[in-house]
Amino acid sequence: MTLPLAGRTALVTGAAGDIGRTTAVRLASSGARLVLADLVDAAETAELCREANDVAEPISLQFDVTDEAAVEAAFDGLAADGVVADLLFNNAGYQGTFTNVADYPSADFRRVLDINVTGVFNVLKSFANALIAVGRPGAVVNTASMAHGGAPNMAAYSASKAAVIALTKTAAKDLADKSIRVNSVSPAFIGPGMMWDRQVELQAATPSQYFGDDVETVAEQMISAVPMRRYGSLDEVASAVHFLLSDESSYITAFDIEVSGGAV
Ligand SMILES: NC(=O)c1ccc[n+]([C@@H]2O[C@H](COP(=O)([O-])OP(=O)(O)OC[C@H]3O[C@@H](n4cnc5c(N)ncnc54)[C@H](O)[C@@H]3O)[C@@H](O)[C@H]2O)c1
Repeated sequence: MTLPLAGRTALVTGAAGDIGRTTAVRLASSGARLVLADLVDAAETAELCREANDVAEPISLQFDVTDEAAVEAAFDGLAADGVVADLLFNNAGYQGTFTNVADYPSADFRRVLDINVTGVFNVLKSFANALIAVGRPGAVVNTASMAHGGAPNMAAYSASKAAVIALTKTAAKDLADKSIRVNSVSPAFIGPGMMWDRQVELQAATPSQYFGDDVETVAEQMISAVPMRRYGSLDEVASAVHFLLSDESSYITAFDIEVSGGAV
């Protein structure tokens, strides 16, 4: 039986992190060759991808998505080796500081926007140009977040993820005639993992009228805002990404899938 992503090459940013790792392994199990990109070494993800797919050896790259020249050099290096990614999971991200907007530090605001918006743009642009150069179709999934609706104490992160959705919709329109689909996923509370622990701890430590001041209370408050009354799993995010990158979604572009258990 032919695997659904056999013959495809998928580049994943944030590949050393929880969602990137889980999704990379899912794409590898489906037959894709993986290009794993992160600021830090994604060796663990590479090993798991090898176990999931012993046909296509993963490629590991380290670059900062905010560094346009480094991103372009990474794609040029792949092209020089005859590797063209036709699937992109544009997923590297940073939550930023947790504090009231009135106190939010400007430098961190810019850093969050730089990583979550400019970084996503840099990788999307280089990916699209590499594909256009060889005249091949492709698909992109950008990682947004349900914070796009305005999460308390997360001004920069919320603004950045709303921007990711807008960027997704414009890119989908601009690249439609090149047969490159562009969609996004918006996870809500996903766990277990670093981001869940970090946001519960930081919301508890940050005074607000929305959350209590101890982690157990904050965790309960967050879960009680979810109609399905649980956080989502990393695998549930990976499933949505897999669907949007595969030909199962061949007529879907400019769309955001909310992986949120009904939370809005
Ligand atoms: N986990 C959640 O609850 C959740 C919910 C909604 C959205 N998200 C989004 O999902 C994505 C992945 O998050 P995660 O939970 O796996 O977090 P994570 O912290 O485990 O992974 C993020 C990865 O991005 C990498 N990264 C950060 N800045 C980078 C840069 N400048 N250049 C290259 N790589 C960089 C990090 O090194 C890290 O490996 C992020 O965009 C995040 O905003 C996560």
